[in-house]
Amino acid sequence: MKEQSDSKMEKITSLCKRRGFVFGGSDIYGGFVGSYDYGPYGVELANNIKSAWWNSVVNREPNIVGLDSAIVTHPKVWEASGHVGGFSDPLIECKECNTRSRADHLLEDIEVFADEKMTPEEINAIFDENREKITCPKCGQKNFGEIRNFNLLAQTNLGNFSEDWTKEPAYLRGETCQGIYINYKNVLDSTRVKVPFGIAQIGKAFRNEIAPRQYIFRKREFEQMELQMFVEPSTEMEEYEKWRAKRWQYYLDLGFKEENLKWHEHENLVFYAKAAWDIEYNFPFGFKELEGVHARGDYDLTQHQKFSGVSMEYLDQANNKKYVPHVVETSVGVDRTFLAVMTEFYDEDELGGEKRVVMRFPYKLAPIKVAVFPLLKNKPHLVEKAKEVFALVSEHMRAEFDDNGNVGKRYRRQDEIGTPHCITIDFETLGEEDESLKDTVTVRNRDTGEQERVAISDLVSYLK
Ligand code: GAP
Repeated sequence: MKEQSDSKMEKITSLCKRRGFVFGGSDIYGGFVGSYDYGPYGVELANNIKSAWWNSVVNREPNIVGLDSAIVTHPKVWEASGHVGGFSDPLIECKECNTRSRADHLLEDIEVFADEKMTPEEINAIFDENREKITCPKCGQKNFGEIRNFNLLAQTNLGNFSEDWTKEPAYLRGETCQGIYINYKNVLDSTRVKVPFGIAQIGKAFRNEIAPRQYIFRKREFEQMELQMFVEPSTEMEEYEKWRAKRWQYYLDLGFKEENLKWHEHENLVFYAKAAWDIEYNFPFGFKELEGVHARGDYDLTQHQKFSGVSMEYLDQANNKKYVPHVVETSVGVDRTFLAVMTEFYDEDELGGEKRVVMRFPYKLAPIKVAVFPLLKNKPHLVEKAKEVFALVSEHMRAEFDDNGNVGKRYRRQDEIGTPHCITIDFETLGEEDESLKDTVTVRNRDTGEQERVAISDLVSYLK
């Protein structure tokens, strides 16, 4: 089972590199731990993931609006949020080789449960009970120090020119939602929204992860898609259940098999949270958190009220009452969704007696929607007509022109990047063999390999 999952992960990472989805960060300098770059097809896929999320969370909801807040904010934001004081992971160091690891991950590796939200004392106690079984991932020894908490916020001197800037650092945001809370009043005052309403944001977040791992699953610089719903306090749990159902359905609508998803309830809630459930996905290394859905109460807004001195109260004019709204949050990583999408739609089959790898992306996620080929590269009339067809379809969708190698090879390449349709311009398109086929092309379906003759004038509607 483990071998099978390792090999699926290897196949996905190798496809991602080979076909330009994901490259190791700073490759030419020997890499940079926890950093990855999205290549030409990766950026298309990531953009499509973000559009699918935005479409579902913002465009289809009358009371949700978008935001793009700054990455680096006033440092007090992170004091108010509790990140400066308490946003940390349990770090343990190997006394033999000085490798630093996350204690909860080492425990997880020997199948002992520990939650990142446990206190250091709790994790230390569990770690002590299991010391004999835990080995250092680098040197294999069992000689560890004590667990200590390591703060995950990354500091920056942006805007601070003093030599000892670390005394008053600014921070790269550890989650995008704090930018939403500090703009909640601005949005209320400048738009027509009324409670209940939501603010959604997609953007980069940064965490000094002690041990980034599992490819793009845990990175130090990653992207989040977060929605914060501001609701009347007594309706928080009703809203929460509504969003749990919506987020589950979202993955089914994306084309995920339900058996690859599962709910996980947090056992250790932070003191202010009323509920926290994760949607887990069946990654090649097992079920792991993909998205968090949290009922956060009024904690965030009251903290910002306290630290900024600005009232966060909402005036409900219809009912003549004032309150600080409660927050229901849904939060998912772009990178984790990317890996889940690669896992879900990766397939191998046999077509026309040949083995192939095929990414069965749903149309809306496919990086390239259609590829256009002239049958032969060295026939100017075919190439010219193919360029005309490319110009026509590329006005409506992301298309690619390819005249490299033979058509069979081009099909394989497009299958591997998950292109739903390939169009070939042949001699029949030019009307050289049968006048009735003039201005028709062959359209090949990625999933079945079947080909159909379609008039160029019908192409766009056929493909869509
Ligand atoms: N605002 C709530 C929040 O940030 P979280 O559970 O820490 O909650 C939410 O993160 C989501 O962000 C996760 O479910 C995951 O998809 C993504 N995420 C968190 N840390 C990540 C990392 N180091 N690398 C990639 N994605 C990450």
